[in-house]
Order: sequence, then structure tokens, then C-alpha cells
Amino acid sequence: MPITVAPCSSIEEMAVALGPIWHYFGGRATIEDTERASRNLDVGRMHAAKENGTIVGGAGAFTFELTVPGGTVKAAGVTVVGVLPTHRRRGILSAMMRAQLDDVHERGEPVAYLWASEETIYGRFGYGLASLSGEIELPRSSNAFLRPFEPEAETRMVEDEEAFEPFSQVYDRVRREYPGMFARTENWWKYRRLADPENRRQGGGLLNRVLLTIDGKPEGYALYRMHQSLEAGISTGFLSVLEAIGTTPEATREIWRFLFDVDWIGRLKAGQLPVDHPLFFLLARPRAMRFRLADALWVRLVDLPAALASRTIGAGDPVVLDVTDVFCPWNEGRYRVGRGLVERTNAEADIALEAASLGSVYLGGFSFAQLAEAGRVEALRAGALARADALFTCGRAPWCPEIF
Ligand SMILES: CC(C)(COP(=O)(O)OP(=O)(O)OC[C@H]1O[C@@H](n2cnc3c(N)ncnc32)[C@H](O)[C@@H]1OP(=O)(O)O)[C@@H](O)C(=O)NCCC(=O)NCCS
Repeated sequence: MPITVAPCSSIEEMAVALGPIWHYFGGRATIEDTERASRNLDVGRMHAAKENGTIVGGAGAFTFELTVPGGTVKAAGVTVVGVLPTHRRRGILSAMMRAQLDDVHERGEPVAYLWASEETIYGRFGYGLASLSGEIELPRSSNAFLRPFEPEAETRMVEDEEAFEPFSQVYDRVRREYPGMFARTENWWKYRRLADPENRRQGGGLLNRVLLTIDGKPEGYALYRMHQSLEAGISTGFLSVLEAIGTTPEATREIWRFLFDVDWIGRLKAGQLPVDHPLFFLLARPRAMRFRLADALWVRLVDLPAALASRTIGAGDPVVLDVTDVFCPWNEGRYRVGRGLVERTNAEADIALEAASLGSVYLGGFSFAQLAEAGRVEALRAGALARADALFTCGRAPWCPEIF
């Protein structure tokens, strides 16, 4: 039976197109759920794959402004991708990726990016692993700081409505500093980050929202849940941090100290942490965090010259990149890249690579040299990798504190 892929045209259709991904989370999207989702995900940005008029797959994209080294770029935040198990491995995902990337291209968004449910899925569509993130689990007994300090900040619990203003101010200051973070709209805060629907609690309690102020000014916040459990009267539960952000090193140190000091809990768990988290140097026993690395963002350069022109390229001799791109062939070719310079060229190339590998270095999370070690880029001239790395390095690991 032939498959067709097209954007959804109504909330009802979108509810059915969300069905495949919801299936894997064990639920079903109601019209009410879909209306909530549509506050952030435009109905027309949800593609549905139909077989004989019946929806069997769906794929969505948020309209994001993504921070990249030295600036921001319009980007598609790919989300809610799923195919019903009855229709797997018949090319439905491939058809949806085709339609979605063509759509992103037509919209003039130079970049698409995502968190992958499995790392085996998106490379074939030109997405490259672009950042890592960390997960920790720290026993309360090992949470002392190397250099204890007198807290100067004040912390207080705030409700949903009160949280929006100060939290969004704090976030907005921080997100401009980190490649990988995106601008959050009021709806994003209201319907996603500060919302607390039952199906997001994963066995935990209510969402707690803590505001941290220094000299009366919002400088940090944390979102967390308690997962309490007792054994012989002793807490074996854990505190789960959804997000903890400070605008300065002091505020970051204070918000984490606050979280570690919450009483009557066995452990603290947190995920989606930056790989260069200050906790490595704040804690007396950083090993006790059991910091575990995993792949985080996957980046796809959809309009390659526009994507490169949106980020800072460092000083140094330009390099010529010879890019192969099977899935988005409009990107194929040779480009001379340097500070303020991205142009097509016929000159001899310094480095040959696939578009996915350029996605991997785009946010500054990986180097050309590192990819070459894995055979993912090829240096065609001596010294080319070091020259390219000098242009692309940005001095800060990319970070996205939230899976979308
Ligand atoms: C991942 C998923 C969307 C794939 O859909 P699909 O329609 O079966 O994929 P396709 O048939 O288009 O597969 C295209 C190619 O990708 C491969 N592929 C697809 N899913 C894969 C997976 N999970 N792991 C490894 N390879 C995969 C296929 O083998 C095929 O390879 P080929 O071109 O070499 O033959 C589907 O399995 C699914 O819904 N999984 C659960 C939800 C999920 O993980 N969604 C992604 C959220 S980020």
C-alpha cells in the first residue's frame, strides 16, 4: 500500500499523528493533550504518514531560535517522531524525514536538530552527534563541597504563575551563552517547563519550583521532584532535579548547595547536565556523582552556507571543505570557510567530510581532529585538521538542559 506524507490540517488529525510516539510512552493523545501540545508545536509542522487514508506515523518540528557559537540561528527542533509497530521498517520514517527536511529547507531554517531515542536512527538522514550530556546520582552522604561557603542567596518556593517572570529572565541570560540552548516562549514555560501534568511525574511527587535571589535579584532557579521511599524508617528515596540554572558561578554554586541540602532524602539524581559542569570542582568527592556521559544533541545542517554564516568562525587561514550530502544534495560541494567567509569554490579541498560530520563540529562540541581519529573526516593536506579546529573551536561545551 503506498504511503503519503503531508502536514496535519486539524487538531483532530494531529491527535492521531501523535498516536505513534505516544504509543511508545504508553499513552494516547486526547484532543485536550493535542491542544496543549499545539501551543508550542504548530499543527502545520506536524507531518502525518498515511496508508490508505489511515495515519500510521508522525513527525513534528518546533520553531526554535538556537544558540550557536557567537550568535543564534533559526532552527527546527525535531520532535514526536514515531511509526506504529504494525508499520515499522517499511520506509515510513524515511518518507517523513524527506518531507520534513524539505519543509525546513523551504522555511529558510538553516539547521534541524534533535534528541534521538536511539543513536542508530538519524545518521542516515545527515544528523551528526553534536553534544554530550551528563547524568548524576549522588548519595546524600557524599555531597560536601571541597570549600564550604556561607550562602548569601535567598531561596523560596514559588507557584507556577509567579515563576514565569523571574525564571524566564534567568534562563534568557544563560541561554545566550550556551550553544545548544534555545529561546523559550511564554507558552513553552507555561505548557511545558513549568507545567506539572500527572503523566510527567514518573512516580515522583509534585513539581517544586525554587527561585534563588541575590540582593533581591533573580539569579537562579531549580525545578525538582521528590521520589520518597523509606526502609526501616530511613529515607532511601531520591530528589530528582529537572533543571537547575544560575546566572553566575556564585548563583550556580548556591542553587546546587540548596538542592543537596534538602533533608530526609537518600540521593540526588539529575540529567541533561553540561559536560563541563562546575560540580567536578565544587564537590569534595566528584567521583561519587558517578557522572555518566551520553549522546545529547544531533545536528543537521539543512542550508549549509547559511548555517555556517550564522556562527562565529575564528581567525586563521580559511579551509576548503569538500562536503558530501546524499540526503540533502543541494549542500554538496566545496566551500571555503574562514572568519566572515563562507563561499563555494573550485579550489582544492583541505578536508573531505559528510554533512553529518560538519553537524558534529557545528556547535563546538567536537573537533575535526577527533572525528578524523574515528575516520569520519579525511584530511587531504598536512595541518588541515588543526587549521579547521582553530576556526571552529569556541571554548565552551554545548549544552541543552532539556529533552524536547
Ligand atoms: C524509529 C522509528 C521511527 C523508525 O521508523 P521506520 O518507519 O521503521 O523506519 P524506516 O523503515 O524508514 O527505516 C529507515 C532505515 O532506518 C533503519 N532504522 C529505523 N529505525 C531504526 C532503529 N531504531 N535502529 C536502527 N536502525 C533503524 C532501518 O533499518 C532502515 O535502514 P535501511 O534504509 O538501511 O533499510 C520507529 O521504529 C519508531 O517509532 N520507534 C519508536 C519511537 C522512536 O524511537 N522514535 C524516535 C524518536 S526520536
